[in-house]
Amino acid sequence: MGYAETYQASLADPQGFWREQAAQIPWFEAPTTILDQDANGAWRWFRGGKLNSCYVALDQHVAAGRGDAVALIHDSPATNSVRKYTFAELTEWTARVAGGLADLGVGKGDRVVIYMPMIPETVVTMLACARIGAVHSVVFGGFAAPELATRIDDAQPKVMVSASCGIEFDRVIPYKPLLDEAIRLAQHKPEHTVVVQRPQAQATMVPERDIDWQSWQASAAPVDCVPVDATDPLYILYTSGTTGKPKGVVRDNGGHAVALHYSMHAIYGVDTGDVYWAASDVGWVVGHSYIVYGPLFKGCSTILYEGKPVRTPDAGAFWRVLAEHKVKSFFVAPTAFRAIKKEDPDCALKAQYDLSHLEYQFVAGERLDPPTYHWLQEHLPGIPIIDHWWQTETGWSICTNMAGVELLETKAGSPTLPAPGYDLRILDDDGQELGPNSEGAIVVKEPLPPGTFPTVWGDHERFVESYWSQYPGFYLTGDGGYRDEDGYVYVMGRIDDVINVAGHRLSTGQIEEVVADHPAVAECAVIGINDADKGQVPIGLVLLKDGSNIAAAALQAELVQMVRDNVGAIANFKRALVVSRLPKTRSGKILRQVMRKMVDGEAYKVPSTIDDITIIDELAERFAVEGLTAAAKGVEPK
Ligand code: COA
Ligand code: AMP
Repeated sequence: MGYAETYQASLADPQGFWREQAAQIPWFEAPTTILDQDANGAWRWFRGGKLNSCYVALDQHVAAGRGDAVALIHDSPATNSVRKYTFAELTEWTARVAGGLADLGVGKGDRVVIYMPMIPETVVTMLACARIGAVHSVVFGGFAAPELATRIDDAQPKVMVSASCGIEFDRVIPYKPLLDEAIRLAQHKPEHTVVVQRPQAQATMVPERDIDWQSWQASAAPVDCVPVDATDPLYILYTSGTTGKPKGVVRDNGGHAVALHYSMHAIYGVDTGDVYWAASDVGWVVGHSYIVYGPLFKGCSTILYEGKPVRTPDAGAFWRVLAEHKVKSFFVAPTAFRAIKKEDPDCALKAQYDLSHLEYQFVAGERLDPPTYHWLQEHLPGIPIIDHWWQTETGWSICTNMAGVELLETKAGSPTLPAPGYDLRILDDDGQELGPNSEGAIVVKEPLPPGTFPTVWGDHERFVESYWSQYPGFYLTGDGGYRDEDGYVYVMGRIDDVINVAGHRLSTGQIEEVVADHPAVAECAVIGINDADKGQVPIGLVLLKDGSNIAAAALQAELVQMVRDNVGAIANFKRALVVSRLPKTRSGKILRQVMRKMVDGEAYKVPSTIDDITIIDELAERFAVEGLTAAAKGVEPK
């Protein structure tokens, strides 16, 4: 079947389509119902089915006689080492770590928060949680202590697992002080923290609470996989929403295993035994789905890369890894290629490496800007450059070109067409469906396919309110865009207060809360502006309290430090402008969307409820003087 038939089949008979896919993974007990709604009205897949995601990822391959095949390759320019683990080794190790967690009282449904760098122990801890039915929540290592504390309070973990440090280029970043500070700030206190001591930094241990990973896992007895319900949670992954409080996206076991297993061949074109690489971080959804679970479900060798696209040691780093491990399908964020392009514009370093195994180049995490797309096309001749669009909430592609089904023509700026199961529509503000080339909100008609989130952890109301209330019956993706006359989808950017900085999803509300805390700040708005390297970066527009005489440069320096300390360096918050007023409605709501569109060079409508229209011209002039206004978004003409 080609793409069109596959897609049509998935919409015409979702249950039949996904029943067939569910038969491809090992269940302890087959599902009794393929799709229904739970007491909250949320759609649930594969009710009655029992499985274990760690079994699907590891044990099944050992049972099938593939124990000696390589499961995980830890390629770490940060520590100058490459280590490979077979399925048998990884299963044995994971079973022991699962035993260690069980010894600490962690059982089915208990949460374990993981705050770790890109080391094999991180993957093993995730799989060990899955093995005993515990729910892991990985927090990206770039987040500062207060962000980690918020997640600890929401997830309420029994145990945390961390490491003494991460390594950023050649800088050692101690993690343990951040972990200790986060636990101090949090209301909820985990009973234990297990810490991997890395040679680059020794963490100071808190007696009674802290446990040394090495001796702990060495003395633990291995435990077997516990059957869990298809609808039981596998993990919580916090993501930025429109407010400062992150949303705990919940992933179930059954739908996730079926969808990700399906995606490996259908979308990424790989089979059991192939080498697959997603150069992301386990702290993000891409890392969960395509460093850990997806490739292992399929029996691929997956690469855990502890390095950067550049300066580890040079802009040829990716080409070296692709060649050395014979990668077939590669997935990375466009920002990484922009970093390479900046240092090696002619891609000269690639010539040293044999990339003959590379068949597909996938990108996602942010919009693939046409210049980067064309650069990739030029330097990876014959290899399809596949932009695909998805989110933490969906866990896998909403729109993609399907390498294993039928490769369609690619178009610059478009992630091609909807993936099976996603009934995508473009709606205007009134919920009317828009025709070709008209931009609106991108939504997906219910039910969403397997693998997508069934709720927000501990706050189902927020799930309904944030995603399902604006257009009843349709999932609000939060992205805006349009389709062309061939149905190709163009995702033009967020329509809410989420920004995407170097492939990292952040909420402007989260940053605003920190900026507003400065004693001299009366009011503020944080918006994303276009950035040639990072896609977007946040800037603060700040109104000072009456009588405040702090110099603008000093204020900016203090705010930058506050955002680093409270959100993290990854926010890339470097600029704050003092303004004399902010555009508001008569009821006092700051018109962030208007300002966002002004700096994006997009058409904007000023609401009639604005309290003083003259502020718009004043701001437009200021943005132009400060060099903030983009000429255009670099979009293809519609
Ligand atoms: N732990 C601690 N700090 C981190 C971190 C981590 N895991 N990740 C990033 N940081 C820090 C960086 O060291 C930097 O600190 P600095 O301001 O003191 O220099 C800051 O956060 C900003 O990082 P970033 O925006 O990532 O810039 P960079 O120059 O360090 O790296 C890229 C640029 C392109 C190499 C990097 O952004 C990248 O690889 N992005 C891809 C993201 C991705 O894979 N996203 C997943 C979706 S597919
Ligand atoms: P995250 O949940 O961190 O994966 O971020 C998801 C958001 O990143 C989406 O809602 C989009 O705004 C953006 N995004 C991800 N992939 C793409 C893509 N291929 N094209 C455009 N935007 C993307």
